[in-house]
Order: sequence, then C-alpha cells, then structure tokens
Amino acid sequence: MCGIVGYVGSSADGKALDVVLEGLARLEYRGYDSAGVALVDGDHVSTRKKAGKLANLRAVLEEQPLEASSTGIGHTRWATHGGPTDANAHPHRGGTDGKLAVIHNGIIENFHSLKGELLDEGVAFASETDTEVVAQLLARAYDGDLTEAMRSVVARLEGAFTLLAVHADAPDVVVGARRNSPLVVGLGDGENFLGSDVAAFIGYTRNALELEQDQIVTITPAGATVVNFDGTPAQGKAFEVTWDAAAAEKGGYDTFMEKEIHEQPHAVGDTLLGRTDEDGHLVLDELRISEQQLKDIDRITIVACGTAAYAGMVAKYAIEHWTRIPVEVALAHEFRYCEPIVSERTLVVSISQSGETMDTLMAVKHARDLGALTVSVCNTHGSTIPRESDAVLYTHAGPEIAVASTKAFLAQITACYVLGLYLAQLRGGSYADDAAAVLKELHQVPGKIEQLLGSMGRVREIARFMADTRSVLFLGRHVGYPVAMEGALKLKELAYIHAEGFAAGELKHGPIALIEPGQPVFIVVPGPDTPHGLHGKVVSNIQEIRARGARTLVIAQEGDTAVEPFADEIIRVPATSPMLAPLLTVVPLQVFALHLSTAKGLDVDQPRNLAKSVTVE
Ligand code: M6R
Repeated sequence: MCGIVGYVGSSADGKALDVVLEGLARLEYRGYDSAGVALVDGDHVSTRKKAGKLANLRAVLEEQPLEASSTGIGHTRWATHGGPTDANAHPHRGGTDGKLAVIHNGIIENFHSLKGELLDEGVAFASETDTEVVAQLLARAYDGDLTEAMRSVVARLEGAFTLLAVHADAPDVVVGARRNSPLVVGLGDGENFLGSDVAAFIGYTRNALELEQDQIVTITPAGATVVNFDGTPAQGKAFEVTWDAAAAEKGGYDTFMEKEIHEQPHAVGDTLLGRTDEDGHLVLDELRISEQQLKDIDRITIVACGTAAYAGMVAKYAIEHWTRIPVEVALAHEFRYCEPIVSERTLVVSISQSGETMDTLMAVKHARDLGALTVSVCNTHGSTIPRESDAVLYTHAGPEIAVASTKAFLAQITACYVLGLYLAQLRGGSYADDAAAVLKELHQVPGKIEQLLGSMGRVREIARFMADTRSVLFLGRHVGYPVAMEGALKLKELAYIHAEGFAAGELKHGPIALIEPGQPVFIVVPGPDTPHGLHGKVVSNIQEIRARGARTLVIAQEGDTAVEPFADEIIRVPATSPMLAPLLTVVPLQVFALHLSTAKGLDVDQPRNLAKSVTVE
C-alpha cells in the first residue's frame, strides 16, 4: 500500500522531480487513490498533489510547474485515514512556514490522541489523515537536525509506518523511518534514493541497502547513514538487485498482467533453477535450517493471504502426499487471533509475493514468538517477511507489477513443491525415491505452459462473448479446488463480476441452488489417472449441473474424452501428473479474467479499490 520515493542528488542536475515521478510510475501499483510530490525549493518546500492516478498529478504539474530541485519526495496513496481527495493526498506539511513536508505509508494507531493534543495547542489541520499529525509533530520537534526530530517523533508513534521527510533548512537531506512497513535505500554515485521497494530507483542503481525494523536513514548526495530508533548507530545490509529496469516495463504487451502471464514459464523454470545436484537430488543450502530440525518437524502450518493462500492450499495436498506430515493452511489474519497450536516442532511456512503483507508478517512474528520454525516463500529480496523468518526460499518470478497475481502464484506453488519434495528426500519414506521423478516432470512444466499459452485463442473469444455476464462459478476438487478459488478471485478483482469457487463435492450441499439456465460454470477437471476415482466424480458433477441448465466451461487434459458429451466448451491443457496440474489448469482462468476485464474496458493492472501490497491490517 502506498508507494514512497525519496531522492537527493547534485544541485547541478536538479533532476529530483524526474526521478521522483519515474519512481512513482513504477510504484503506482501499490496504490492509486492520489499522488503527490514535494521538492525543496530555496527557503521553502513546494508541493503538488492530486486525487486519482499519477496522470492527474502530471496534469497539475503541467499547469503549475515546479522549479528544478535536487531534493524531493513523492507518494502514491492507497487511502486509509480520510477519503481519496486532494486535501488528503500526500505530502502533508508541518508548521506554518512551508518548510517541512512528510509522506507516509501505514497507519499511526494513536493519531487521535496525538491530534487532540495538537488541536488543544491551537494547531490547525488541513486534512483528515494520520500523516498530517506526524508532519505537525516533526515541525515542532525540528531544531536544526531533521534526523533527531524524526527520532523524537517516532518514539511517540504507535502502529506501522514508513515516513519520509524533507525540510527546506536541510536542503540536501531526506530522512526516512520504518517500523513494520517497507523502506529500502538505493545507493548511487553522488545521488541516493529511498523507496518502498527497489522498483522506485531501479532505473538508476542496482546497489541497495536493507534496513531493519525501527531504524532511521538519512540520505544526502554523499551517502546514507542509519541509526536505530534509540539513537545507536546501525548499518544497513547491502544487496544487489538482480533484475534490471526492463523487467519492470511492459515489454510490448498492453498490460503488465498480460506480460506476467507470458512470463510464467520462466517464473516456474527460474524457481527450480540451481536447486538440484547432478544426481537430481534437491539441494537447499539456502534454507539455513539444520537437516535434523527439518527431520524433527511433526506439523506444518502455512500462513498467507489471497492468491498466496491458494498456493498454500495446493501445497497442502502435495506436501502431505509426499511427506505424510500434517499440513494446515491458515489465512494469516485469522491465524494471528485464533490461539494456533504450534510448537518448536512446527514449521510455519509463510507465502508472500511482496514480503510485506502486514497480516502475513504479523502471523510470522506470532509463530516465532510461539517457538515455531519459520520459513518464508517470498519473491522480493530486501523485504520484511524473509528478514523476520528463520529461513527463506525465494521464488524467482521477477518483479510482479500487475495488482492481480499470476506468475507469483505459479512460482509460489513451485517453491512449495520444492520444499515438499526436499522434506520427502530428507526424511526418507515411501516418497523419497519418487521425488527425483516428480522433479524431472516439474522441469517439463515450463514448456507445457508455453504450449498452453499458445492455444488461448478460444479462451479470449469466450471472455469477449461473456463481457455482460453477471455471475460465474468455478468448481474443482483436490488440487483443482484452490485453482477454482483462484479463478474466481481473478474474475472478481479484474472484471468486478460476482464469482465463486467451490469444492465440486460441496455443490449438492447448497451451492447447486445457484444454478439456473445459462449460468456459466468453469469446471477444473482432474486428470483421468488422479487417484480415488476423482476424475469420474468430477465428470458426474458436470452432468449434475448441466442437467440443471448450467453452461459448462470445462478445463480438461488433452486426451480426456470422457468430458466431451457434457461440455459446452472444452479448454484443453497439456497432460501432467495430478499433483502438478494446478501449474497448468489455472492459466486459462487467468487469461479469461484478463480478457473479460479488457472487454469491459477496465483497468487490468490497477483494478479499483485494490493495491498490490497490503501493508496495513
Ligand atoms: O504479496 P502477497 O503475496 O503477500 O499478497 C497477498 C495477497 O494480497 C495477494 O496474493 C492478492 O490476493 C493478489 N494480488 C490477488 O491477485
């Protein structure tokens, strides 16, 4: 939520506005309720801000240009306190002399009482935001040292926040602070950057610094200095960003989502890369958890939200099958408050593309406090959740910019398979010997996704025909059940259509009442060789709904002829073994949602009310 950029460079260049706007364009996926910038301009700070997307701010800047400056901050907002108005847009000013401006991501939980205090002292407020309270506190605390002022203010704040501040009396300085909210530092040559994530400055440098919780960073053209909230000196952890600016461009596609769907073969392939030895055995040295500890695990709990939680549901079937360790999947925001049963023999696996989802982060902290071992499956280097976990297994999907998750989902499932197969290999048991065969098959999946993506013409047509549809249902069983839920989620968030995913077996227990003539229903059919006769059971479910008038849109493996008599449409996916099928069956559902959204003329990459990374509770 909320994208944050800060920049200081040489006064000769005066390029702060360009850098900040470029950063905001790359971070706009984090929130797009409003955008704003503040530049240090002689003896004051000038701001421009506007409700709506970044384009609106650009229009304001055309009408009311700013003077060139070498120091600036910028913000793109996902509204929490106060509606998405011009007045509530960041930056917010503190004091009355026009010298200080602040931007903020997160929520200041005690802002009411702080605001009450300031109102009693006669301070006037121009917005309904919690951020303005911080700006006013900072202005009052400022006594020639912006870092010290920030230190004294954060001591009074409760909640999660990233704050950036500039002051006209410190023209070559941007100060940032973070608690449970993302902030990374970009290190350039005679210029330095702050950003919610590395996308903010990837066009300028790949050298970055991770910050710990409760730290303040001060950037000047000469460097970055870090202190803890208690004032003790600290150092960020240097890392190099492994992708370049082109990875965060659309690369010829109309939308990031379309590009990211087409990057899925790489997302899966790269997540497998370098994790096997010559003999085909998995090697996960990066896990940094001893083999003995992993052997001793007697329970796994997966915590995640949204699409990542559906990846966790797929993982549950696979990991239980391969290891016989009981696996529970909990929505992170529920896990935190349900007195979870975990011990030092529980492995808590968090799954998060961004590594910043507040609920998932808090679930990980909760699990650690309860003594569990924590592993993060994460796509974003330098993010908070891996840092707060005992170990990390990175997915290598590359930056995911579209708000709707696609390639990260496939990479998450792949990483969880790798983890499950590794545990099976380590612990022995009936599946240990087969792990190599499964891995071999997994390596063939990228090619199959490629092939599938080449055959999506009919799915695009179906999506276009269905632009006026008001409701779509999705059915699946076993690993197809989370795929059905993910298909429904994609449609809700992208096309604003009522969509629900069900376990096909649950149908007769209520949802079948929703079926009326013409109701479109996608059915994710397991492969014919899925154990327990599941294929036949799903074919029966198709017949049951068709008998009641449903329009059946069947996703079935190539060669599965049993579905043909009961399908109004058949979307074929390449054959694969049952456990790996989600990596293929979800793809047509992603493509369907993308094209239905496009047919309705909606914003595919930035659907309404959403933000890419949910850093508030
Ligand atoms: O960054 P995370 O993976 O932790 O995000 C979790 C969810 O917010 C996310 O998967 C969300 O459901 C997707 N954007 C939906 O497409």
